[in-house]
Amino acid sequence: VVTALALTTVLAGCSDGSPDVDTIGRVAFDTALAIPPLAEPTTDAVGRLHFDLTAQTGTVDVVPGTPTETWGFNGPYLGPTIVAASGDDVQVDFHNGLKEPTTVHWHGMHLPARADGGPHQMVAPGDDWSPRWTVDQPATTLWYHPHPHGETERHVGRGLAGMFIVRDEAEAALSLPRDYGVDDIPVIVQDVRLDADGQLVSDTRDYIGPVGDRLLVNGTVGPSLAVTTDVVRLRLLNASPARIYNFALSDDRDLALIGTDGGLLERPFATRAVQLSPGERAEVLVRMAPGERITLQSRDVDLGGGPGLGGLNGARDSFDVLELVASDALNSVGTVPQTLVPMERLDDLDATGERRFVLDGKQINQQQMDLGRIDEVVTVGDTEVWDVRNNMALPHSFHVHDVQFQLLSIGGDPPPPELAGYKDTILLRPNTDYRLIMRFTDYTDPRTPYMYHCHLLQHEDQGMMGQFVVVEPGQRAGTIESGDTHD
Ligand code: C2O
Ligand code: CU
Repeated sequence: VVTALALTTVLAGCSDGSPDVDTIGRVAFDTALAIPPLAEPTTDAVGRLHFDLTAQTGTVDVVPGTPTETWGFNGPYLGPTIVAASGDDVQVDFHNGLKEPTTVHWHGMHLPARADGGPHQMVAPGDDWSPRWTVDQPATTLWYHPHPHGETERHVGRGLAGMFIVRDEAEAALSLPRDYGVDDIPVIVQDVRLDADGQLVSDTRDYIGPVGDRLLVNGTVGPSLAVTTDVVRLRLLNASPARIYNFALSDDRDLALIGTDGGLLERPFATRAVQLSPGERAEVLVRMAPGERITLQSRDVDLGGGPGLGGLNGARDSFDVLELVASDALNSVGTVPQTLVPMERLDDLDATGERRFVLDGKQINQQQMDLGRIDEVVTVGDTEVWDVRNNMALPHSFHVHDVQFQLLSIGGDPPPPELAGYKDTILLRPNTDYRLIMRFTDYTDPRTPYMYHCHLLQHEDQGMMGQFVVVEPGQRAGTIESGDTHD
C-alpha cells in the first residue's frame, strides 16, 4: 500500500521567484561544524593497523537543554573517521556496548564476506568482534554502520555511522585539499524527528521511510564552517535512513564533483547540484573568495518525473544544510588538476553472465529476504552485468556489497558524467532500468554471503534484500555459516 509522502512540516516554498529554500527546523546557522575525530590506530608487530570502536549510548542536545538519547561509536553520536591507505592491513577491534545485538558493516569496502559485518556477523551485547582485511581499492570515501537484519534503520537512525577514508598514491600525487578537518571536510548528513519529549521517533508514514524535520551535519544543528583555503573539499555522505538530498550552493555557483562512491572520477565535473540517496557519497570542491559567505543547500529532488520527493505529490523539499564562511585571507591550495585518475571501463563484451533484479513491493525478484537462502552464486574472476529494474512509481535504491560497479546505461541511455565513475549504491528512479557492470576479483567463501539491497533502510529492514556468495569455478554454495570464524 502506497501512502502519500507527507512532508508538510518541512516545506514551504517561496513565491517571490527565488529558489524555494527553507530550513529544516528554521535554525540559525551559527554553530561551528563538529568534525568527527580521527580514529588513532596502533600498529602491531606485523605492521597491522588496529582501530578500536565501541558502540555505546549517549545524548545530543538537538534542542538546547533537552538531551536526545542517541547511539554512537566511541561517543554519543556518529563515530570517529577511520583513515587507511590502499595496501594497509587493518583490524578493527569492535566492542558492542549496547544492550542489544548489532553489527558493523564496511559500506563500499572490498573485503572477505566474513569481515563484511552484514547480518551474519552479529555481535551480542558485551561481546567483541575483530575483523581484519587488507585495504585493496583506490582512494575514496567509504563509511561504516550496523546491519542487523530488520533493525538497520533504527541503529543507523540513532547515530551509528562513521566515515572511512581510503587514501592512495594516485590521489596523494594530485593537487587537492587533503588536510582533514581544515580543507578536507567530512559532511555526514542525517535528518531526525523528535517527539514531544525530545526523543527520536522513527516515523514510518512516508513510503520511503522516516523523513526527519531537523537536520544534523556531523551531529551539529545549524552548522557553520570557517573556510581558510580558496578551495575546500567536502566529502558528502548521506547517512539518512530515507531522505534523498540534492546538494547545491546558495548562489548556484558550480561545484566540482571529483569523486563518487568508489573513487575519483577521471576528471572534475562542474555541476550545480549533486543528488545523493541514502548510502551514497560524493566528493566535491567548492571555490570561495575571501570574506564570502555561502550556504550548502539541498534542493528539490528530481526523480525523472519533475521535482518533488518521490515525484508523486509535488512535495517541495528544499532547505539549508551548512553555511560556509571564508576568512578575509585564504590560503591557496594550488591549481586544481584538470585530470584526476585514469579509469578502466568495464566492457559488457567481457561479461560472462547477466542477472536480472526487479524491485517491486517490498521484494526483489518476488522474494523477501531470507537469511537462510542464497539467492545468487557468482564465480570468482567473472565480470557480470546486473540488470536492475525499479518496477514502481516510487524511488528505491540498489547497493551491492563487496564490489564497486560501473553503470552501462540508465533507461537505455549512457550514464551522465556524475554517474560515470565507480559506485556501490545507486538511486533507482521510478519505472527505470539500470545496467550495472562489476568484476568479482577475489575472496571466495561458499558459506558466507554478501548482501545486495535497497538502501532506503526501512525497505532493507522489510526484506528488500538478497544474498550472494562468491565461489571458486565449479564450486557450489554451501550451508550458510553465521558468525565470524577467523583463523
Ligand atoms: Cu550501507 Cu548493506 O549497506
Ligand atoms: Cu526501496
